[in-house]
Amino acid sequence: MRKRMIAGNWKMNKTYSEAVVLAEELACALADGTKGVDVVVCPPAVDLKGVGAVIDQKAAPVALGAQNVYWEESGAYTGETAPDMLTAVGATYCIIGHSERRGYFGETDEDVNRKAKALMAHGIVPISCCGESLETREAGEHVAFVVNQIKADTEGLEITDPSKYVIAYEPIWAIGTGKTATADDAQEVIGAIRETLREVFGEKAEGIRILYGGSANPGNIAGFLEKQDIDGALVGGASLKAESFVAMIESSAE
Ligand code: 13P
Repeated sequence: MRKRMIAGNWKMNKTYSEAVVLAEELACALADGTKGVDVVVCPPAVDLKGVGAVIDQKAAPVALGAQNVYWEESGAYTGETAPDMLTAVGATYCIIGHSERRGYFGETDEDVNRKAKALMAHGIVPISCCGESLETREAGEHVAFVVNQIKADTEGLEITDPSKYVIAYEPIWAIGTGKTATADDAQEVIGAIRETLREVFGEKAEGIRILYGGSANPGNIAGFLEKQDIDGALVGGASLKAESFVAMIESSAE
């Protein structure tokens, strides 16, 4: 029922020309399709147009996503990007609430909620991130912590098409550290996220994709996908090279 998804978060990597090269490599490697996997790439904002142009020219089976958005329509918000601006350069997805944005830039659950509403009002699919710190996990409070994030992040959201709202569970201690959660660790929290989504959205919860993120790579992706509630991955480091990203897409085909 839920189509698998592999999304690449390029974070603050790749200049314009490097981003175009990576997009061309992906387009070439995926010329025969993605075997039923939804593929999204999220380059830095200044690279969106260039990556989008490659996707269009090569008719690549890849969707374009941004890494952040602001909820206002336009105006005096120096440095920010409005949903319409993302649409204008071809972005149909947008990551919100990444732990790096929460940690370094003070993004709160309230912000994440406003961003989700603004994106959905403009037909852009949010990839809404959640996840606990090592301290919270060691205190045994990880499930409760993430459930609370989900409740706050989804407050008042109305979902008509559940394939148009995506969650990424990224335990902070597993991001960029080479330390992955086990598939069982991830399923424990992602199962609780699904249960919370059922409380909030009823049966629509069954159609919402929940991705795992945190040192996901070609060697461990299959193990995560065996778990009943895990529908794909939000990939950082391994999305920066076409070879590893494409290998993860291939391992995700059902
Ligand atoms: P890594 O895959 O580099 O650990 O990053 C995960 C992540 O933060 C994706 O959003």
